[in-house]
Amino acid sequence: MQEIIEALEKRRQEARLGGGQARIDIQHGKGKLTARERLDVLLDPDSFEEYDMFVTQRCTDFGMGDQNIPGDGVVTGWGTIGGRMVYVFSQDFTVFGGSLSETHAQKICKIMDLAVQNRVPVIGLNDSGGARIQEGVASLGGYAEVFWRNVQASGSIPQISVIMGPCAGGAVYSPAMTDFIYMVRDTSYMFVTGPDVVKTVTNEIVSAEELGGAGTHTIKSSVADAAFDNDIETLLEVRRLFAYLPLNAEEKAPALAVNDSATRVEMSLDSIIPENANAPYDMHEVILKIADEGEFLEIQREHAGNIVVGFMRLDGQVTGVVANQPMVLAGCLDIDASKKGARFVRFCDSFNIPILTLVDVPGFLPGTAQEYGGIIKNGAKLLFAYAEATVPKVTLITRKAYGGAYDVMASKHIRADVNYAWPSAEIAVMGARGATEILYRSELGDADKIARRTADYEARFANPFVAAERGFIDDVILPHNSRRRLIRAFSTLKNKRAEGPPKKHGNIPL
Ligand code: HXC
Repeated sequence: MQEIIEALEKRRQEARLGGGQARIDIQHGKGKLTARERLDVLLDPDSFEEYDMFVTQRCTDFGMGDQNIPGDGVVTGWGTIGGRMVYVFSQDFTVFGGSLSETHAQKICKIMDLAVQNRVPVIGLNDSGGARIQEGVASLGGYAEVFWRNVQASGSIPQISVIMGPCAGGAVYSPAMTDFIYMVRDTSYMFVTGPDVVKTVTNEIVSAEELGGAGTHTIKSSVADAAFDNDIETLLEVRRLFAYLPLNAEEKAPALAVNDSATRVEMSLDSIIPENANAPYDMHEVILKIADEGEFLEIQREHAGNIVVGFMRLDGQVTGVVANQPMVLAGCLDIDASKKGARFVRFCDSFNIPILTLVDVPGFLPGTAQEYGGIIKNGAKLLFAYAEATVPKVTLITRKAYGGAYDVMASKHIRADVNYAWPSAEIAVMGARGATEILYRSELGDADKIARRTADYEARFANPFVAAERGFIDDVILPHNSRRRLIRAFSTLKNKRAEGPPKKHGNIPL
């Protein structure tokens, strides 16, 4: 028996070495961890159980017949993060460049099927040269099997992708259909066609980093949700994100005992709104002052800064936050902000995460670029997402809530549950100056008259009371009491039930 045990251990040792020490050294030389080292950082110590360690590829073409490296370029299994279960796969670049063969895909599919069946999330660590070139269509079929599972799992269990090396060609579409993508700066990239093809087809000369690096995808394209400096930092941030997520769509996100009073008052909020209604202030400050222990995990921080989205806890309960940011484009909604907000609202709604909306929005951003780019269709995404969401929704208007943007930002009319405003709120069709210039066009030559008209309009509408008189605002609350009032509002919604009419699915304007 001893011999058999030793033989098993030898096979395991061999499999753990992946593509061999020389390739491991190259991986380390690039500042990257190996597939297994990454799982050690991601998962709780000693929690990883590996499956399919002895699976080998089956291709015999192009001299592949004798190249059977156990594991076939992907390490799969399950473990825990913060004591909660998760299925994982981690591509091993030391084995055929982490490329995806038929068997490599089958290993990933097995993990995804188990995750859906056992109702826990999947995290994929991607580091791959794409389709295993020697296998042709068998590999493409493998990708499509993964894609199909991504879609089945979407909205059912959380899926997180971490891009830790190359991710090119159609391979990008699996991460793209998961809930969150994190990237590692300088060592990861994603593109559909690489720099060489781009040069041939469009004559553009562009580096891999410029075309599909972390900067490109967190700032410009919004494909990725966040990027960090190295493998370790990125994986620790994934652990942090995981703590805010429920295991599946039937569960609530985990509550934590926090060291912060639910009745804490924050006097500085009484003076955060500047005297001048056009002066900006940082909505992050409001968020941090309301959140448990001042902790906020922001998603897509570097893209569409005019809207801020992310997770906080309120009295220990995970809460999604969507907030206009007056510091960027005066907090206007534009195409990018609408798409960013809509996707986040839909994630929260899929996974039972209540939504807090903080409103300071002067309207939709005007201009030909916005209209030609489809602000109508894209703005509708946010409106649709909010109206469709049945999770508890609490809204607080801190200052401006103008025009269509008032309706969109979780107004009572699209079924927010509790709507509050600070006394500084201005809820109107548009700003006083613009309104006066339209209503009193014939008086435009008389500056004094227009100033008086503007002041009249302001006195009538630059407050929350017209809306409060109609019950569109449930209460006008003191800023320093916001945390207490919001926590109490969410506590009333714990057992909320809301169902729409029967349908297969809505038709969100994509
Ligand atoms: C088989 C591959 C491979 C692949 C890399 N390798 N990619 N083997 N299929 N797709 C192997 C290399 O031959 C090499 O083997 C080892 O992995 C490491 O690769 P290097 O090139 O030495 O590494 P590096 O210089 O870091 O370059 C990495 C790379 C490059 C940029 C990813 O390898 C590359 O361009 N690979 C091909 C990428 C590609 O075109 N893939 C297909 C994309 S289309 P040895 O034995 O020498 O160490 C696609 C379609 C998906 O994926 C469709 C889904 C619907």
